Amino acid sequence: MLLPARLSAPPPGWARYADVVVVGSGIAGLTAALRIREALATADRGSADPTVLVVTKDQLSAGSTQWAQGGIAAALGPEDTPEEHLRDTLLAGAGVCDPEAVRVLVTEGPEAVRELIALGAAFDRDPAGMLALTREGGHHRDRIAHAGGDATGAEIQRALVAAIRAHPDIEVIEHAMALDLIPGADGGVAGVTLHVLGEGQRDGVGAVHCRAVVLASGGLGQVFAATTNPAVATGDGTALALRAGAVLRDLEFVQFHPTVMWLGGDSRGQQPLISEAVRGEGAFLVDDAGVRFLQGEHELADLAPRDVVAKAIKRRMRDRGSDHVWLDARHFGAAKWERRFPTILATCRAHGVDPVTDLIPVVPACHYASGGVVTDLVGRTSVPGLYACGEVACSGVHGANRLASNSLLEGLVFARRIAAHLGDALPPRREPAPDRRTPGLVAPAARDRIQATTSALVGVLRSADGLARATGELVEVCALAATDEPAAAAWESTNLLTVAAALVTAAAAREETRGSHWREDFADADDAWRGHLDLTLEPTAGGSRISSTFRPSLDHSPLLVPEGSA
Ligand code: SIN
Repeated sequence: MLLPARLSAPPPGWARYADVVVVGSGIAGLTAALRIREALATADRGSADPTVLVVTKDQLSAGSTQWAQGGIAAALGPEDTPEEHLRDTLLAGAGVCDPEAVRVLVTEGPEAVRELIALGAAFDRDPAGMLALTREGGHHRDRIAHAGGDATGAEIQRALVAAIRAHPDIEVIEHAMALDLIPGADGGVAGVTLHVLGEGQRDGVGAVHCRAVVLASGGLGQVFAATTNPAVATGDGTALALRAGAVLRDLEFVQFHPTVMWLGGDSRGQQPLISEAVRGEGAFLVDDAGVRFLQGEHELADLAPRDVVAKAIKRRMRDRGSDHVWLDARHFGAAKWERRFPTILATCRAHGVDPVTDLIPVVPACHYASGGVVTDLVGRTSVPGLYACGEVACSGVHGANRLASNSLLEGLVFARRIAAHLGDALPPRREPAPDRRTPGLVAPAARDRIQATTSALVGVLRSADGLARATGELVEVCALAATDEPAAAAWESTNLLTVAAALVTAAAAREETRGSHWREDFADADDAWRGHLDLTLEPTAGGSRISSTFRPSLDHSPLLVPEGSA
């Protein structure tokens, strides 16, 4: 798909240097900053004092980590093993995980969680003082550690923010949007251009020159009209990396969380999540006639992997002509609701539903990007000096469908790996290259149309016809909504358009149904498609074009996908 304008950040009003810039402040970004500072301080760098700068678009705690409810998955229980965690992860990933990356995740995960606990994150414990572990969709063991009942992300974020604030040698700039990377003369990264609001001397657009940029900027949920993601999740890192020449992978695998509270058909923006852990503790789904429709769909019934559950819900809604289904957890009783799910209880009540006595209306909504910027096992992207971890990255651990609660773990494990790598091999400082690109941004007013297009035509159910219509809509947005006004909101809408275009390109190319990518016109998984779609931005005479290349999967394990889940 053609994007008509190429971008260039406006000339910087100020400039400075840091060894490493971390973009983003969730579990991946803050862990990376802490560990990189430690790794650089330990490495032999003569007398130079390492400088690590964290930049974040809003406040330190505004990203998706804060909102994570269910928990963090790791083989921490006495009966569990990394091998079993690996098996569940590969199975959910539907044949397109990178097995080596998954092995890293599950073997280094338990230690990474213990370190998080040592840093001060307080997880829930059983009466004997052992970590309380629960189960979520696709897991065959209880391996989800949680905090505050259903406020795991908030507790992790609290602990990490406290550690960052207490660290004298890590600098933070809040309300700083990363606009674009500064190219180096050799094609690598020489720095990052920021748009900063309200930082006195550093107000407005500025340049930070550095040796390495670590993208930990989170997801892209706001490309859809309704999502569990907070307002900051506008795919900035994904779009910026694509513009810088990085390869994106598996972008079509956008995960729709099965149980998001239904607030009415035209509800937009961030929607309340009803954690899978609620089903993990025994809640079940029923249709408008009270029928439990997941039994018979999958051996794990209501705890099947989330693509299976989301598709079953969508099918049931379509067959019954209803706009949502119901989650029944009334049998928990008030005491269990208050102890185990206090956040969800309060949210439901705030919306006029008391889950102790009422069914909760739920519907699938955009939740997580399983794909993103391709990285290797130490977080390197295809652009020298650019690293990525957390939701913005595609490390290979999620494949076509992320296993529940593996996302916090991925952020933790791969941030540590980037730090270890930078401690050993910090890239050289690069001379910035002259930037000859022409400006071109999309007006903020285009945002609603972009979101409406992706929600209607690139959501849970996709078809060639719908994707062609989506492409047409986005091309029109490109043509009609150009602006010369370089406000942060215009960069956001440009990033949303870029991500939407990349998503449509990948979804149209993959002519099969696999994991969280569901094509109505290609209803089955096709072995010929067992692999990845890599996306790059190619310059053309009139602007730039997103092109895709197919790469076979490294996961050759037999696919034990149960009936009905393809
Ligand atoms: C949930 O609590 O259901 C979300 C967990 C996840 O997305 O991994």
